[in-house]
Amino acid sequence: MKPNVEELLLKFQRNEITECNVYLSLASKSKGKNKEVLKRIAKDELRHYSILKKHTGRDAEPDARKIFLYSLTAKIFGVTFAIKLMERGEKIAQEGYNLIIEDIPEAATFLKEEEEEHENELIELIKE
Ligand SMILES: [Fe+2]
Ligand SMILES: [Fe+2]
Repeated sequence: MKPNVEELLLKFQRNEITECNVYLSLASKSKGKNKEVLKRIAKDELRHYSILKKHTGRDAEPDARKIFLYSLTAKIFGVTFAIKLMERGEKIAQEGYNLIIEDIPEAATFLKEEEEEHENELIELIKE
């Protein structure tokens, strides 16, 4: 694998494990169906992390600062606002996976599709 691709994958990997933690934190501040959806998305992000790890062969640490900032944002502006920001993150993730679609086509296509689903699920959560 090209070194720059590996760096990119590692960056995405770190993002996946960070998002997993952010969703868990938002789930802990939610109830009912919202809580369930956020927990399931967190599980997906963890799976995404594992898929990328298979390609990089390396571990990545979550971005503790980002997790803290999202928790603070949810506390000050509410969970819905934090979810809106995460929705934008899902869009950015899809664009990211587009960049590696030629390097790891199968994984990148799958990951992109799931991030698109996340985006739509979050839009539904915000609507309700
Ligand atoms: Fe993901
Ligand atoms: Fe996602």
